[in-house]
Amino acid sequence: MLNFFNQSGKKINKKILLLSSDEQNYEKGDYKHFMAKEIDEQPNTIKNCVNEYIDKINKDINIFNFPFKEKEINSITLIGCGTAYHSCIIAKYWFEQLTSFDVSVDIASEFRYRKNKFKKDCLYVFVSQSGETADTYAALDLCNKNKMKTCSVVNVIESSIARDSKFVLPIHCGPEIGVASTKAFLGQMLVLYILCLKLAQKRKDISKKDYLIRIKKLFSLAELVKKSLMTEDKIQSICSSFIDAKGSMFLGRGYSFPIALEGALKLKELAYVHAEGYPAGEMKHGPLALIEDGMPVVVIAPRDQHYKKTISNMQEVIARGAKVLLITNKSKDEVYSENIWETIEVENTNDDLFPFLVTIPLQKLAYYSALKKGYDIDKPRNLAKSVTVE
Ligand code: AGP
Repeated sequence: MLNFFNQSGKKINKKILLLSSDEQNYEKGDYKHFMAKEIDEQPNTIKNCVNEYIDKINKDINIFNFPFKEKEINSITLIGCGTAYHSCIIAKYWFEQLTSFDVSVDIASEFRYRKNKFKKDCLYVFVSQSGETADTYAALDLCNKNKMKTCSVVNVIESSIARDSKFVLPIHCGPEIGVASTKAFLGQMLVLYILCLKLAQKRKDISKKDYLIRIKKLFSLAELVKKSLMTEDKIQSICSSFIDAKGSMFLGRGYSFPIALEGALKLKELAYVHAEGYPAGEMKHGPLALIEDGMPVVVIAPRDQHYKKTISNMQEVIARGAKVLLITNKSKDEVYSENIWETIEVENTNDDLFPFLVTIPLQKLAYYSALKKGYDIDKPRNLAKSVTVE
C-alpha cells in the first residue's frame, strides 16, 4: 500500500488514490489554455502556500514534524530537473545568503551517475512538481540506499518521490496541467525560501528581527505578483521580435541568473526558438560574439547589489546592436543607459523576493510567443508533463 502525506508532511494511509474534488473539477474556465490560467493563478497559489506554512498570529513558520535536528545538518544538496532545477539554483543563493550551510545543487540526471561523496550531515532536497520524474526519483533512491537524510518539495503529495522521502514539503499549488511549469515554479521557490528561513532561524544564522521582517514581506508577495501580471500588454507587443529572431539571450546576475535560465527554457519549450540563459558577467568570455544587429536580449536587473554591473553588461550588448528588453523594478532614478528597446518594471520588494516578480513577464513572453505561432501551448511538441522515463 502506498503511503501518502497530509499537508503537514505527516504520513497518512490511503488505500487508493482519489483525486481531490478541486483536482476533479479543475477546468480551464474562460481561459484559452491551462497555462494562461496557471500563470494568472499565481497570486492565489502564493497566498495559499504562505497561509499553509506561516502562522500569521504568532508570526512564525510552521514546519511540523521536521525529522532532523538542526545540529544534525551542516550542508544541503538540492536536486531537480528543468524548471525544478532552476528553483534549486535560486535556493542555493538564499541558503548561502541566510544560513551557514554549505550548499550545492545538481541536475538529477547528473547526480545519479556521479561518484557522490555522501555525507551523513547533509540534507538532500528533491524538488519535483509531479513527484514522478525518473531522474529525480533515481537520485532520491540512491540517497535512500546510502541512508541519507532526504526531503522532497512536491506539488503531488501522493507521488513516488513524496512517498519515498523521509519528509515532504507540499507546495500547495493545485493541479498544474500545462506541460510548461509556471505556478509550480513559484511554489517551489516559495517553499524552498520558507524552509531556508526556518532553518536559518532555528540555527540562529539570522536574528529574530530579520526573521520577522522577512516573514512580514511574504504576506505582501501575492499582491506584488498580481501587479507583475499587469505587464502583459507590453509583452504582447514585443514577442514577435523573439519568434522571428535567429535566437535570443537572457542575462542576469545573482538571483536573476537562474531566472534568466528559466525564462530561456520557457521560450524554448513553448515557441520552439533558440534562447539561452547566461550569467551576465560571462558574456565577454565568448557569447558576446553571438550578439548581432537586432538580436533580442532580455536583461534581468532589479536594483539589487548586481544592478550597476548588469546594466554595464547590458550596455555592452546594446553597443553591438542588441534589442534589449530590460526587466527591472520601479524607481524614481532613471536607468542610466540609452537605446533600451523596452523596459518592464516590477514592484519593489526586498532583493531576495525579486525572483518571484521578474519571472512573471518571462512566463507571459513565452506564452504570447507560442500563441502568435499557433503552437500547442499546454502540450508542446516532444515534451511530457512528467518525464517518467530516463
Ligand atoms: C518545465 O517547464 C518543464 N516542464 C520541465 O523542465 C520540468 O520542470 C521538469 O521535467 C521537472 O519536472 P518535475 O518538476 O515534475 O520533476
